[in-house]
Amino acid sequence: MHKPVFAANWKMNHGPSEARDFMATFLSEYDARVDRTIVIFPPALTFAAVRHALGPRSDILLGVQNIHTDAKGAFTGETSAAMAADAGARVVLVGHSERRHVFGEPDEATALKCAIAFQYSLIPMLCVGEKLEEREAGKTNEVVLRQLRAGLSKVARSQLWQVMVAYEPVWAIGTGRTAQPSDASAVHKLIREELFKLCGSGEDANAIPILYGGSVNKDNAKALLKAPGVEGLLVGGASLDPVSWSAIASS
Ligand code: PGA
Repeated sequence: MHKPVFAANWKMNHGPSEARDFMATFLSEYDARVDRTIVIFPPALTFAAVRHALGPRSDILLGVQNIHTDAKGAFTGETSAAMAADAGARVVLVGHSERRHVFGEPDEATALKCAIAFQYSLIPMLCVGEKLEEREAGKTNEVVLRQLRAGLSKVARSQLWQVMVAYEPVWAIGTGRTAQPSDASAVHKLIREELFKLCGSGEDANAIPILYGGSVNKDNAKALLKAPGVEGLLVGGASLDPVSWSAIASS
């Protein structure tokens, strides 16, 4: 089995100066450990400052929060997979709920982004999750499976084992309301079963970590990680404080 993955999504927080202060504290609090993978997703303009602050530490991977579906061109304000890779990113968030529901990103875009990520040796971390009204209408499984299948539809079967998946129920993001560990487990099981079908190989499917995200903090991290099928955490708000993030990353 793979190692658990702890990922910090800073969203549109922490400019370069704040990030330098954050990293100084975080790196003094958090000792490198071989039993887990740590990923930080800073904003694009902060990426270089975080990379510089990491220095020789190779135990922490850096990622970008979004890429464009094209490799380059006249797309004002966008970041390409090629640029992200050149800057030192190893991972890219795809289909985060804010991209889907604030910026109107459709499933087709998540498919193209996962595909172009691989062209530039970036690992896509595909985020899936239902909105509150979808959960209340009993559509959680349908929505999660649709997003999962669509997002991975353009990735070669032989490469699927390298992706990461994050289940983030939209109603739990930034709301202080987490899924019950048993609810998270049920959806993680559904995702795992679908990955078995998509990969056509249990070994490949089991190589894919499935993270939970949505109002994770240092007090609930352990219980969520104990839930069967939860193999990592994708953390927004609570990753902005270096001490709290260090506690979560050490869970
Ligand atoms: P949150 O965000 O931890 O602030 O709920 C999680 C995410 O959006 O990835």
